[in-house]
Amino acid sequence: MEMGRKNLKCLTTIAFICVFVCSFSFHCCHARKTVDYRHWQVHRHHQGSGRSLRLTGSGHVGSEGVVGTSLASKGRATNGGSGNFNVLDFGAKGDGETDDTKAFQSAWESACNVEGSVVEVPSGSEFLVGPISFSGPNCQPNIMFQLDGKIIAPTSPSAWGSGMLQWIEFTKLKGITVKGTGTIDGQGSVWWNDSPTDNPTDKNLDKESSGGELPSTKPTALRFYGSDEVTVSGITIQNSQKAHLKFDSCTAVQVSSLTISSPGDSPNTDGIHLQNSQNVIISNSNIACGDDCISIQTGSSGVYIHNVNCGPGHGISIGGLGRDDTKACVSNVTVRDVKLQNTMNGVRIKTWQGGSGLVQGILFSNIQVTDVQTPIMIDQYYCDGGRCHNGSSAVAISGVNYVNIRGTYTSTPVHFACSDSLPCTGVTLDTIQLEGSSGSNEPFCWKAYGELKTSTVPPVDCLQSGNPFKAQAHDSC
Ligand SMILES: *[C@@H]1O[C@H](CO)[C@@H](O)[C@H](O)[C@H]1NC(C)=O
Ligand SMILES: *[C@@H]1O[C@H](CO)[C@@H](O)[C@H](O)[C@H]1NC(C)=O
Repeated sequence: MEMGRKNLKCLTTIAFICVFVCSFSFHCCHARKTVDYRHWQVHRHHQGSGRSLRLTGSGHVGSEGVVGTSLASKGRATNGGSGNFNVLDFGAKGDGETDDTKAFQSAWESACNVEGSVVEVPSGSEFLVGPISFSGPNCQPNIMFQLDGKIIAPTSPSAWGSGMLQWIEFTKLKGITVKGTGTIDGQGSVWWNDSPTDNPTDKNLDKESSGGELPSTKPTALRFYGSDEVTVSGITIQNSQKAHLKFDSCTAVQVSSLTISSPGDSPNTDGIHLQNSQNVIISNSNIACGDDCISIQTGSSGVYIHNVNCGPGHGISIGGLGRDDTKACVSNVTVRDVKLQNTMNGVRIKTWQGGSGLVQGILFSNIQVTDVQTPIMIDQYYCDGGRCHNGSSAVAISGVNYVNIRGTYTSTPVHFACSDSLPCTGVTLDTIQLEGSSGSNEPFCWKAYGELKTSTVPPVDCLQSGNPFKAQAHDSC
């Protein structure tokens, strides 16, 4: 009897623990589902096909911590707590002078073998790292690069050989996250002055004083290539040699809470450059640079950009597309809740003459411009120095919607220069309120067809209504 009562008591305790644990895990699951659902919604929103659920954090700051922790602890649990690889443990000095490239490479090689591992670059140190590739394809998935310290690029010509396309590269990975409060600094100023018009005598002087010359190929500071499920969050990328951050041939990319910073007169320092990448979200970020804040190139589709500040810089651009008679395809791009200040352009589509392909399904919505030269631009006669030839073919542009574009401009409010052979079609303007500084120009249109959904300020009478080219077959993309 005594025994039975004890058992009963024990059972009750176990049952109680079970209920407690179950309700706790239910709570966790429930919380996680909520987060997932929001990601799913966002993906649905711009992709339409509802891709698989993802757990990586995005701009939802409130929930990010919970998700991050559950992922990290999951990673460690499966590796018995050995999934962290601190670069200091691999011989990095972090004194800003010693070359720490080998230590970073060693830390990566260890992390690469462990699913869900973490490479730690701790705060309080400055790591000098030369050109480096954190490369799959034989790495385990879901590696996190926890960047809380500062990584600086070498400025001596000897570190760059005959030229590199990128400084820090992550390639062929499945699930790669770069996050933290740290900084990647390209120390690009030594590259920026090196314009092709430099006087040869000056160059020789430079050569003698620095013991060599920087190669003419300038590297992108941080590049992701051929990877799926890429997250970049929290970090600062500054003073890049050329573009700051590039995604090429990646899918399911999330960029959030990023700071990009370079002077407005630093040449070719694009903020974020997308190419051949699908299903991309860029949110809650500040971008100041010397070229396009975001540049969307061929092969990009399902791109959703929101809550981004741009300036100084050249604005947010699709293109230039179709250079050297190439075929270019960009579709389903939404840019919304964006502020542009003191930029050359606001939202722009630019194509070279002679190309082929198609830009379609574009929405620019809730764009606030302040002292922007040309807030709204389509330029199918784009030519960036060099060989500019006239061509009768063009990258077609169809379905470009501008909704709620407000603020001030200094040159031209709306500039639509469309192709003679392939006019722009389906261009709509809805709630445009733009105020020019004194002496600014009227809206300009050439071969631009579409619809004014509302009256606009200033009036854009030059947009022609209808679509006389419906029967025209576009290149399939
Ligand atoms: C673009 O969106 C449309 C409509 O949601 C969809 O049918 C199409 O497949 C998308 N295109 C690409 C390349 O994702
Ligand atoms: C291209 O066409 C324009 C306008 O017809 C003309 O002024 C210009 O000279 C041409 N450029 C070339 C390189 O043929």
